[in-house]
Amino acid sequence: MKTMMCNTPFVIWFTGLSGSGKSTLADRLSEKLKESGLKCEQLDGDLVRNVFPETGFSRNERNAHIKRMGFLASILERNGIIVIASFISPYEESRTFVRNQCRNFVEVYISTPLKVCEKRDVKGLYKKARKGEIEFFTGVDDLYEVPVLPEITIDTASESVEKSLEQIFNKLISLNLVKKR
Ligand code: ADX
Repeated sequence: MKTMMCNTPFVIWFTGLSGSGKSTLADRLSEKLKESGLKCEQLDGDLVRNVFPETGFSRNERNAHIKRMGFLASILERNGIIVIASFISPYEESRTFVRNQCRNFVEVYISTPLKVCEKRDVKGLYKKARKGEIEFFTGVDDLYEVPVLPEITIDTASESVEKSLEQIFNKLISLNLVKKR
């Protein structure tokens, strides 16, 4: 789909369990927006944590990490960049903080069930968490608070990447954030 920006940058924030499909969708969305000539930046949990390996996974550390990323996203947005963020972001408190920091915030809840994420186990981390080799693993021994009113909900167990992207673009169009060319 060809798209064009309506002069309003935005922050699109993917939240959901590890292995739910956040990064895959974020990558494809980024490609599509760039193909349309739009300026966008991606912020991704694994990438950021690679740069800052001491980030940690306690409730306080995750909340602080998400708030920092939200602040960064809001600065980029303010400077005309579309931000595509993908973090588990399991807690309502920091997601609400981020929403309030940003001007146009689109929350995408990737609702793929734990069972499916665990079966995929792309990085082998669920297996390790079940064996007790990783603690505070979201969905295993740490909480994921389901978003209350996300703009978009996608279950990648039953929706293809292309269908999911279509759903995202339809929402962005209805919010007047992108326009069909
Ligand atoms: S968040 O909870 O703070 O939002 P973030 O998205 O940055 O998480 O990073 C999650 C990634 O860290 C997972 O995809 C996984 O690769 C890795 N990881 C390592 N330990 C854990 C853990 N205890 N819980 C969740 N993810 C973990």
